[in-house]
Amino acid sequence: MKHFLDINKTSPKALRQMIDHARRMKDARGGRPRGMEDDETPLTGRMVALIFEKPSTRTRVSFDVGVRQMGGQTMVLSGADMQLGHGETIADTARVLSRYVDLIMIRTFEEATLLEMAEHATVPVINGLTNRTHPCQIMADIMTFEEHRGPIAGRKVVWSGDGNNVFASFAHAAGQFGFDLTFTGPEPLDPERVFLDEARAKGVQVTIERDPFKAVAGADLVVTDTWVSMHDPVSARERRHNQLRGYQVNAALMAAAKPDALFMHCLPAHRDDEATSEVMDGPHSVIFDEAENRLHAQKAVMRWCLGV
Ligand code: CP
Ligand code: NVA
Repeated sequence: MKHFLDINKTSPKALRQMIDHARRMKDARGGRPRGMEDDETPLTGRMVALIFEKPSTRTRVSFDVGVRQMGGQTMVLSGADMQLGHGETIADTARVLSRYVDLIMIRTFEEATLLEMAEHATVPVINGLTNRTHPCQIMADIMTFEEHRGPIAGRKVVWSGDGNNVFASFAHAAGQFGFDLTFTGPEPLDPERVFLDEARAKGVQVTIERDPFKAVAGADLVVTDTWVSMHDPVSARERRHNQLRGYQVNAALMAAAKPDALFMHCLPAHRDDEATSEVMDGPHSVIFDEAENRLHAQKAVMRWCLGV
């Protein structure tokens, strides 16, 4: 069973094939993100369940459109409307869904929910974000970097802000794709150590630097994300804003990176909190290419899972 649960659980060779395949599929559409079916429709006759226990714009729409472009059909399900939200076990839900659909994508809270779904499903399961990781996003981000700047191997990526789920998948990717990663943020919001140690064990440099201006020196890519994630308590908002204010990605910080550094944000963004509009809409920013590439990258992920 080829589940896509995390970037560190997928081989570097498979990851590379998916990124290159995504690029070919994008090119085959003549650069158009929109429109109906691709020339090749490998998902004809297949049904994909898209389960959301948290809100989503990009993940929901890009998976839905991607399946349709490949000739398949989707069913978008809200966790709250399923028996899942009313006490049916994840394991039973996984077994039942496996009798109806060919592929399951789930966005959930606890990583344990994803893992239990994958353990009991007899069809592939894709991680559409948990509190801990967001692998589909980073597949799109790697694709986007390489489209603009060539191979990411050996480059320097700097994350400024909260050491959250999106950072964790960047740390997984650093080890698998071979790039150096620096985290800059306040100590209470440091990422889990295991993510850093695992990447270091794969031979890449992973650094924590509290001074954001020192951190971005020599950066090829500067990345940030919301200061308050969907799973964070709303009551933490003010404290986090105070802790993170100095890590805002603004024109002064971008000027301290390499002159041709790219800026990424997975979106949704809180403009002028974690990044200024000047940076988001400025010459370094590739945020809308990132959003588009969710579509192409996930099509490659789904085809890899299904072997089609
Ligand atoms: N970046 C991302 O996953 O966006 P959504 O929450 O809108 O799906
Ligand atoms: N870190 C954010 C990412 C949203 C796509 C969250 O989990 O809310």
